Amino acid sequence: MCWRSVLCGGVFVIAGKRGQKDDWDIYSFHINSTVTSRYATTVITSRVANRMNESKEIEFHVRIPKNAFISKFRMFIDGQVYDGVVKAKEQAQQQYTEAVSRGESAGLVSSVGRTLEEFKTSVTVAAHKKVTFELTYEELMKRTHGKYELQIHARPMQPVSDFKVDVHIHEEAGISFINVKGDLSTKALANAWVYFYPTVNQQKMCDSCSDQGMNGDLVIVYDVNRDNGLGHIKKSDGYFVHHFAPSDLPRVPKNVVFVIDQSGSMRGRKILQTRTALFHILNDLAEDDYFGLITFDGNIFHWKRELVQANSKNLESAKNFASNIQARGSTDINQALLQGARMLNDHRREGSASILILLTDGDPTSGVTNLENIQSNVRQAIAGKFPLYCLGFGFDVNFNFLEKMSLQNNGVARRIYEDSDADLQLKGFYEEVATPLLTDVTMIYVGGTNLTQTNFSQYYNGSEIVVAGEITDNNIETFTPQVVGISVRMDSQYSSRVWAYLTVKQLLDKELQLSGPEKEKVKKEALELSLKYSFVTPLTSMVVTKPPGENTDVLHKPKEGKTPQRWQPPVDQSFSRQYLAPSIHLSGSPIGEYHKHKKTEINEMLHNLYF
Ligand SMILES: *[C@@H]1O[C@H](CO)[C@@H](O)[C@H](O)[C@H]1NC(C)=O
Ligand SMILES: *[C@@H]1O[C@H](CO)[C@@H](O)[C@H](O)[C@H]1NC(C)=O
Ligand SMILES: *[C@@H]1O[C@H](CO)[C@@H](O)[C@H](O)[C@H]1NC(C)=O
Ligand SMILES: *[C@@H]1O[C@H](CO)[C@@H](O)[C@H](O)[C@H]1NC(C)=O
Repeated sequence: MCWRSVLCGGVFVIAGKRGQKDDWDIYSFHINSTVTSRYATTVITSRVANRMNESKEIEFHVRIPKNAFISKFRMFIDGQVYDGVVKAKEQAQQQYTEAVSRGESAGLVSSVGRTLEEFKTSVTVAAHKKVTFELTYEELMKRTHGKYELQIHARPMQPVSDFKVDVHIHEEAGISFINVKGDLSTKALANAWVYFYPTVNQQKMCDSCSDQGMNGDLVIVYDVNRDNGLGHIKKSDGYFVHHFAPSDLPRVPKNVVFVIDQSGSMRGRKILQTRTALFHILNDLAEDDYFGLITFDGNIFHWKRELVQANSKNLESAKNFASNIQARGSTDINQALLQGARMLNDHRREGSASILILLTDGDPTSGVTNLENIQSNVRQAIAGKFPLYCLGFGFDVNFNFLEKMSLQNNGVARRIYEDSDADLQLKGFYEEVATPLLTDVTMIYVGGTNLTQTNFSQYYNGSEIVVAGEITDNNIETFTPQVVGISVRMDSQYSSRVWAYLTVKQLLDKELQLSGPEKEKVKKEALELSLKYSFVTPLTSMVVTKPPGENTDVLHKPKEGKTPQRWQPPVDQSFSRQYLAPSIHLSGSPIGEYHKHKKTEINEMLHNLYF
């Protein structure tokens, strides 16, 4: 089971001395994930018995995806239920501080890995008593590279006699393919049930698992069927969710400028990986793309001062330039980005999509170094005309700065983890934006209100635009996107929770860009929604209630900060993932009938909306 034994060795650093077999016993561990139209609700239920004749502190310790919001946590002890309560962060903090001042050593929880966060709490259980922990988290899966990926991390920390992972996927449009680390695939089925019930012996099969039992990821990759129209609109309970991901549009030629940090800190493996990634990326450019290459330290180096066409002669010359990138000197991010923006601004082309990509591993140290001044300069130079993507290499970057700057310019920031696969991470990111299909996308909903983001500067093949909102007065008659067949067989909470999830995520992005009273207003909105829907977000915390006299735990959502709070071996990285091999069961009838709507009408609408 441990097919990368090199990496499995370093995995069990956290177990400590607790959880021995003669101590307490996890006799049942269930993970139950239900995915309805890409919205995943996962419940982890762990049942533990204290086999000792004295009371024991029993720990619950799991990992969940970074993108998820915890929405519920409860403990059942001796017929009593203890429900975690989501509160505004300050309020929770106060409760926590009070606990500390009473001499209770309340411990903060959570830490950050590459894709996972840690949830940890403990409770004292009397001799020969049992406790059940139940954690619920929710996540809207994001489509990248043409697929959705559901990651479930299974690591109960000891072999468990009743160990079950169940994943139920319901996609009304039909699943176009599903892949569970194997080669299973199918067409046009609405439901999939993936299950994994290993015996205790199977849980010990991994070389290094031994007494610690299972440790691995169940990774389910799938996509859904799509027609060529406006996509799917699901309505329920006065809310709607619109998934829009056409793939048969022609690609829009792009103009892309890579701005690459070659300051001294990039020396060694980072610069090698950057070169490798650049080679691949240059190879992938299409002949009608235009591109530019800038490297910078304290100075700016243009490969060419203007954008040039990606023909074979230019590509050869660019590769030659890339292979000679040397790391030295300081970091002038401001000047480098302004030059990149200038190149794109000088090269306006009808019907093309411009993209600016910055790769850096450190803070600005020369030229303009005041972060706000840089942000304002860059914003002015770009003026909303194209997106800026910032790739922060390693943990010496001020990621907040990069994130804010990207968001201010319609892009996103991404962390590149300093590891042997960094070149693949860079290439992977580039591939996400490599094929623009639409630019300046505006989604319009007559009869819809409280909409999540409706303007998108570019839409890339393999991704997806998701908009949710309320239907005005719950009046389906006046809600016009007259599209696709909608099934009413769905969880009535679905749409409103997706709406809340998206709204909170987007308000948090907005909050990051604002300052002063506007920031406070947006923050307040995000806080209210987080509280209403009981999401543990960066603005809220969950106070874990426990039996009287016990420490209070306060759970925070960790931030993608400058340095990880507690850096751990890269157990959750894609290249080191240890996959679990479950069984899969597909059901449901082919859904050929689902999208039989007037195709021309839809195409017309699409045309009117987007061109
Ligand atoms: C999993 O969750 C779904 C939805 O809440 C529920 O219907 C189902 O019974 C659960 N399955 C198990 C095995 O607990
Ligand atoms: C617990 O059991 C051990 C032996 O199994 C015994 O020595 C000890 O006295 C017991 N303690 C209590 C509190 O009953
Ligand atoms: C977009 O992706 C789909 C599926 O991966 C592919 O069939 C199609 O050719 C791509 N479109 C373009 C313009 O590359
Ligand atoms: C939704 O919009 C209506 C008006 O269109 C407004 O009265 C209401 O407060 C909004 N709800 C939320 C949660 O923002």
